[in-house]
Formats: sequence, C-alpha cells, structure tokens
Amino acid sequence: MQPDNRLEEIGAFKTLEQFIIERQFSVDSSTGAFSRLLRDISVAAKLVNWHMRRAGIIDVFGSTGEINVQGEVQAVMDALAHKEFVRALRRGGECCLIGSEEHSEAIPMKASDSEGKYIVLMDPLDGSSNIEVNVSVGTIFSIYHLPEDHPEPTLESALQPGVNQVGAGYVLYGSSTMLVYTTGEGVNGFTLDPSIGEFLLTHPDIRTPETGSMYSINEGNYESFEIGLKKHIKWMQQERSDSGRPLSTRYIGSFVADFHRNLMKGGLYMYPATHKNPAGKLRLMYEANPLAFIVEQAGGKASTGIRRIMEVEPDKLHQRIPVYIGSPKMVETAEAFLRGELDLDS
Ligand code: AHG
Ligand code: MN
Ligand code: MN
Repeated sequence: MQPDNRLEEIGAFKTLEQFIIERQFSVDSSTGAFSRLLRDISVAAKLVNWHMRRAGIIDVFGSTGEINVQGEVQAVMDALAHKEFVRALRRGGECCLIGSEEHSEAIPMKASDSEGKYIVLMDPLDGSSNIEVNVSVGTIFSIYHLPEDHPEPTLESALQPGVNQVGAGYVLYGSSTMLVYTTGEGVNGFTLDPSIGEFLLTHPDIRTPETGSMYSINEGNYESFEIGLKKHIKWMQQERSDSGRPLSTRYIGSFVADFHRNLMKGGLYMYPATHKNPAGKLRLMYEANPLAFIVEQAGGKASTGIRRIMEVEPDKLHQRIPVYIGSPKMVETAEAFLRGELDLDS
C-alpha cells in the first residue's frame, strides 16, 4: 500500500482520546477528571506495550525472585507493569487509591500527588506465566468513585460490589494490542496503531453472541469439579449435531485472552472452585468484576455459579471467587447444571 493511502486509512478512525472527550459527560458531567483518568490508563498501557514488545530483545523475562501476595511467583513483567500503572495514575492526579494484584495492601496516593476522587483496582499483568512462551497477556482494571460515606481513601472505601463500578476495561497484548472498556454505556474496543502510537476505535459497540461453540476451562482440574459441572462438561462433549454439540475447547490460561475471544465469538469461560483453590482462583476485585461489567454491557452474563458476580459484597482486596462468564445462554445452562436442573439427557 502507498504511504498516502495508509495515512488516509488511519485518519478515518476515531482515536481513543477523541472518543473519551465525546463521551466525557456520561461519568462526570463537568470536570473532565474521568477522561483524564482514562487517558492516564491508556498512557500506562502504551508503556507496558512498549516493554512487552521489547521482551524478546532485552532481559525482562523471568522472575523477580519475589513471591507476591497470592503466593505466586512474580514475573519481571508483573513488577514492571505494576510500576508503570502506579506511576501514570500518581502523575495524573485523578486517582486517590490503587489496589493491585502485585501489592498486598491498598496504595493510597499522597495528598501532594492527588486530590483525585477515583479508586482504581487492577491486575497489571494477567497471564504472566505465559510471557516467556510468547502467548497473549493482558491488563485488567476496575474504576470506582471514592464513596461519599467513606471519604478517606482506605481499603474500606475500595471494598465495593461490582455494581458500583463506574468504568472497567482490559488491555490485551496480543498479535495486536487492544484496549476494550465500558463506562456502562456499551463496550468499545480500540486497537493500538504502532505507527502513530494511538488507540483507534476499531470495534465500536461490541455485542457478544447469545451462545457460542466454545468452552474454556482448565480440565486438568476435572477430579476437583462438583458433579453438576462434570455433567455439564460431558453434555457439551456429546455428539448431537442438531444442537451444535460437541463444542470445542479453547483454553489459553490468560483470562483476558480467553475472555476476549469468547466475547467476540461467543463462548463460556469457567474457573470453578477446585481442591487447590476452594474459593476459585480468579480475584473478585480486579479480574472477575471488571470483566463481568464488560460482558454484561455486551449482552453477556457473569455468575459465581449461583449468583451474579457484580452483586457480591467483597470483604478482601485479594478475595477469590468462582467464575462462569460469557454468552448469556451458556452461563444460564452452566447454572442450571450446577443446580441439578439439567442432566446428560437434557
Ligand atoms: P495472573 O497471571 O494475573 O496471576 O492470572 C492467572 C490466571 C488467569 O489469567 C488464568 O485464566 C488462570 O490464572 C489460569 O490458571 P490455571 O493455570 O490454573 O488454569
Ligand atoms: Mn490475572
Ligand atoms: Mn497478574
């Protein structure tokens, strides 16, 4: 393609910045603070992307030698991504408190850094065990107002149910880098154009299909699963051509990447309670809630297996929760199997 045509093509897309300014009034009507917060997040995402793209060239693979609060090995990129997001949010001044997978306590911003009114909870790098083998990873973020009845930025002010989120999103560092977010008015996806360093609106108003042909679960944990889930999995594997079964299994092991594929194509992602993780593995505040907000805004559902994830009252920053998330019909079927209402001959 000629360079002129290429520029013509890029110019036809709306940038993230333009889009945020147009939508500014949906979350905060006058100050522009929320728009600036989103801009800070997008800047951090570009910096993490820059580190990611150099990961094969410079020495940012491997472990820091630290064990994080989850008892998991901290990868160098986990620490780098955490640092970039904290730095961008601190510099931007719109955030008063950060909760991160990579830090045991909530991190209040100093009054000198921030008069901000937003709380950001994040998984700076999701799927980090996949980096060394060149598999897609992501960042997940969740945004809340500092509540009026808890005006001090402390952990208590951050422990709000997902229904209180004012924004949520993820960045997927895949074959291209995408930022997908919602403020409660639908879901929009932006692709980073590396030639101009801008996120461009490539996926406006994302809707997830009612149902899909893929399910995602770590089946290595099969022996741990409760009977309803075991039956559901067997049911999805049955050969019933008139009902689209058997389904296909797709499991990357990066929640963001599995979620994004299912969101776009239709599918069901499950991380249930297991013997190793009796409360589930995924974290409520910075993995389950933000992707639940997005999937619901795209027409999907997110459940603990029993109830809507976003209605769960949290009591810990790093709380874990079972997750069934994706196309609405598939989540409903999973819940019905868990309740024992469906069986193999259903
Ligand atoms: P993180 O890298 O942030 O710790 O998250 C890892 C999570 C999630 O991304 C993924 O879906 C899940 O762990 C995979 O777990 P299993 O290896 O147990 O399947
Ligand atoms: Mn994660
Ligand atoms: Mn992580």
